[in-house]
This record gives sequence, C-alpha cells and structure tokens, in this order.
Amino acid sequence: MEFFPEPLTADASDALFDRTQAHFNRRGFGPFAVELIETNAFIGFIGLSVPAFDAHFMPAVEIGWRLAFEHWGKGLATEGARAALGFGFNDLGLEQVISFTVPANLRSRSVMEKIGMTHDPRDDFDHPGLPEGNPLRRHVLYRISR
Ligand SMILES: CC(C)(COP(=O)(O)OP(=O)(O)OC[C@H]1O[C@@H](n2cnc3c(N)ncnc32)[C@H](O)[C@@H]1OP(=O)(O)O)[C@@H](O)C(=O)NCCC(=O)NCCS
Repeated sequence: MEFFPEPLTADASDALFDRTQAHFNRRGFGPFAVELIETNAFIGFIGLSVPAFDAHFMPAVEIGWRLAFEHWGKGLATEGARAALGFGFNDLGLEQVISFTVPANLRSRSVMEKIGMTHDPRDDFDHPGLPEGNPLRRHVLYRISR
C-alpha cells in the first residue's frame, strides 16, 4: 500500500470486497480474484473496473492489480493482466482500456508497459479523491486500444 493513502483496516478491506461484488452485479465484470494455479491460494486481484470518479478520460474502463508481497517479481501481474485485457477486448468488446498510478510506482508502470500500454504525459491528471498538496495526488495515465 506504499502508493495509496494508507493501509486498509479490516472494515475498509471488507468494504472494498463489497464494492467489487457490487461492480460485478451491476456491470457483469470486475476485478478478478487471483489464485495461484499450483495451490489455489488467493493472492490478490487483477482486472477491469470503471473508476468511481470523474476525470478528463472518463467514461473509461480501468485495468488494475494488487498482489500479496511474497508473490511479486515473478511475472504474475503481467500474466494476469494480459488475460484480463484479452477478456476486455475479446469478450466485453471494449475499444480501449486505461490504467493509472502515481509516477513513483515503477513496478505497476512496468506491468502497464509490458502489456503494451502507452503513456502520453498530456493525459496525466490530479486524482480528485485526494486533496491539493497530497504527494500522491498526481497520476500518470496509460492507455491501450483494441
Ligand atoms: C504492481 C504489482 C501488482 C506487480 O506485480 P508483479 O507480479 O511483481 O509484476 P511483474 O512481475 O509482472 O512485473 C513487475 C515489474 O516491475 C519491475 N520492478 C520490480 N521492482 C522494481 C523497482 N523497484 N523499480 C522498477 N521496476 C521494478 C520488475 O523488474 C518487473 O518488470 P520486468 O519484468 O520488466 O523486469 C505488485 O508490485 C503489487 O501488488 N504492488 C502493490 C499494489 C500496487 O501498487 N498496485 C498498483 C496500483 S496502480
């Protein structure tokens, strides 16, 4: 949670789960639970969602990911993101998918680049969920088209 405002409490984590389930119910897709093929262990999420705020690139579908620390650095986010992107383009028929993070989140940006997303600095934006002056407010935006 280094690049988020704060770690989630158990209640906030449960609320995130509820919002994720509601997203599936409302739109028919959402961030997938990620399981390790070898053990079926639940290790995080990877997938598509519609951001819940307004911005110059909205309406849009976002791809995002969060994995448990011990599973980083093995290419799992990239593997899952490629699958989620294929689902978005081939099954949902999306024309474009976006992703965003703070400039310093190089791991996440590297996943964006490895799955073929591109970054135009003119797209960068201030996240409306964070107050002016917050160091995490500035975001880089990546895009990929079908
Ligand atoms: C972002 C995240 C999902 C990446 O998962 P992962 O399975 O480790 O990703 P991958 O192994 O597919 O790729 C990670 C890339 O980051 C690179 N990387 C790792 N540490 C890095 C660092 N300190 N600086 C720059 N790049 C780094 C890796 O080299 C790799 O790229 P490469 O294959 O070109 O070498 C994981 O780090 C995570 O859950 N982070 C916390 C949550 C988060 O920030 N989510 C994104 C919010 S927008």
